[in-house]
Amino acid sequence: MAENAPRVWLVGAGPGDPDLLTVQALKLLARARVVIHDALVSEAILALAPQALRVPVGKRAGRVSARQTHINALLIEHARALDPNADDLVVRLKGGDPLIFARAQEEIDALRAAGIAFGIAPGVTAAQAGHAAIGAPMTRRGQRRALVLSTPQVQTGDGSDLSWARPLLASGGGALYMAATAAARVQATLLVMGMATDLPAAWVVDASRPTQRITATTVGRLTQDAPAGGAPALLLIGCYTNAPAGRWPRRQRQNRPKHPGVPGGGRHPARQVQVLTEPGLTARERRLRGSDQTEGCRSQS
Ligand SMILES: C[S@@+](CC[C@H](N)C(=O)[O-])C[C@H]1O[C@@H](n2cnc3c(N)ncnc32)[C@H](O)[C@@H]1O
Repeated sequence: MAENAPRVWLVGAGPGDPDLLTVQALKLLARARVVIHDALVSEAILALAPQALRVPVGKRAGRVSARQTHINALLIEHARALDPNADDLVVRLKGGDPLIFARAQEEIDALRAAGIAFGIAPGVTAAQAGHAAIGAPMTRRGQRRALVLSTPQVQTGDGSDLSWARPLLASGGGALYMAATAAARVQATLLVMGMATDLPAAWVVDASRPTQRITATTVGRLTQDAPAGGAPALLLIGCYTNAPAGRWPRRQRQNRPKHPGVPGGGRHPARQVQVLTEPGLTARERRLRGSDQTEGCRSQS
């Protein structure tokens, strides 16, 4: 091991399916002495580091969670307790990518201030898994040239901060993280700002997990279609979702024949791209389809 090699790693665990872990993450987990992990990290992934001490510091909406300063202190304490002659690590394991809506900056600042070398292992972010689930690209030649990953959470001041919403308007949509509990506010804000009510959208819950669920909706209906229950959910907005309102058809049965060459034999529901077949727009939504914002939707359908 190189003398100054990082002994603390911020590692992306991906959206849940262990097959979406990077090889780097797998190698780091194998060397982990301690895994300090978020609530979103699945048991299947934690099981890949059976030798490690698990320290849960989960933060889930509406539930008690560790304070960020406590997490920073834990990182430093465990890093300092590592045997200097051993090859083991402290892994800070975060759902998705560790640099996207994951409070990485605070941890980076704390490690730097403590003089502790660290590394960062990127992961597959939830928006990628969500788009894969609905079978839609995140960019589209000539039509969608900016990628918007946004969150309505962490309001500052009086709630007049619309920096989360403006890029969605400018880009004709994007992926919203942590939007389910704020669905009514998201919808009201986007409509007031001029987003078309019939702009297609989709809620993707538990993307890439066996429990994955997709609900097609529109901006005008996204509150009534919002998922309840607290499972991680993404809101994908834009013509690229190409999704008339209504539910995606039920998944095919799980015992279909194996698909050769696909890891997991193609049995994982997340590997089945789900395609909408039934238009479910209301008459009003159909009338509204003439708006500019849905031009691209018509050309795709
Ligand atoms: C604190 S953010 C962490 C994001 C993470 N760092 C990433 O790159 O995906 C948590 C939010 O990510 C989204 N999320 C994470 N995993 C998800 C999944 N498997 N399916 C749907 N949304 C997910 C949800 O919006 C959830 O509330």
